[in-house]
Amino acid sequence: MTESSNVLVTVRDRIALLVINRPEKRNALDAATRRQILTALDSLKSKAEVRVVVITGAGDKAFVAGADIAEFEGRTPVQQYESMSGPSIFDAVERFPRPVIAMINGFALGGGCELALACDIRIAADSARLGQPEVNLGIIPGGGGTQRLPRLVGTGAAYRLLFTGDIIGAEEALRIGLVDEVVPAAKLEEQVMTLAASIAEKSPVALQLIKEAVRASLRSPLDEGLRQERGLFGVAFASEDKVEGVAAFLAKRKPDFKGR
Ligand code: COA
Repeated sequence: MTESSNVLVTVRDRIALLVINRPEKRNALDAATRRQILTALDSLKSKAEVRVVVITGAGDKAFVAGADIAEFEGRTPVQQYESMSGPSIFDAVERFPRPVIAMINGFALGGGCELALACDIRIAADSARLGQPEVNLGIIPGGGGTQRLPRLVGTGAAYRLLFTGDIIGAEEALRIGLVDEVVPAAKLEEQVMTLAASIAEKSPVALQLIKEAVRASLRSPLDEGLRQERGLFGVAFASEDKVEGVAAFLAKRKPDFKGR
């Protein structure tokens, strides 16, 4: 386990668990925590044995309760602009070259909801609560909430959350498509780890290329996305993992993917 004060990372069985660790502040994202998340992701990126990343919050109250509001006080607009101009944790998660699962164990508000939105799959405890309450502070989301939320849940449901700042329960989040699955809080880690383990067995090459292709679908017109998919298919087809996958299927055995 590597440990910096606000972020804990454990790697076991090809799954990295990244825990945001400020439970006394409901895991709010201050500058130090954001820096440590970036450092942790950077380090995980270079570890070939890591096939899936799971992000969660410490304790049983919060995934992440948003940006650290205390840091807003007394900050000039220029200082705030500078703090948001560096590398973004949201982009780093979205671009991370392996699947990233949000294990939403409690409040996911503001930047916490946006962090979950940047992940590839969102699994929530039945006790989780999500929302974009920035409007209550007289500000707007700054970590992709106005962009990723409407793409995921549609414009109407996104406007409702963004305009009202309402905090919704896990079941409603499931109904609007903000989370992909809701599980009993006591089973959250077990079920997320089962999902992560099933993904960790797949070809890392294919996982990375799938992620790239799906990201292209969010950014490109259909024709361009299809063109990119064909190019990425060609890369997968040239991989050792493809040789192994096809050989294993034909030999009726389990493939052993190496990520090459
Ligand atoms: N930034 C800074 N500190 C935060 C925080 C945030 N986003 N969210 C919680 N905290 C701090 C509280 O100030 C409190 O600190 P204190 O013990 O020093 O007073 C501590 O975390 C516990 O929070 P508390 O409000 O007492 O816990 P709760 O369980 O009753 O409520 C929340 C939890 C998440 C509903 C509530 O803290 C909240 O509404 N947080 C702000 C959410 C938000 O607006 N996020 C968007 C930011 S842009």
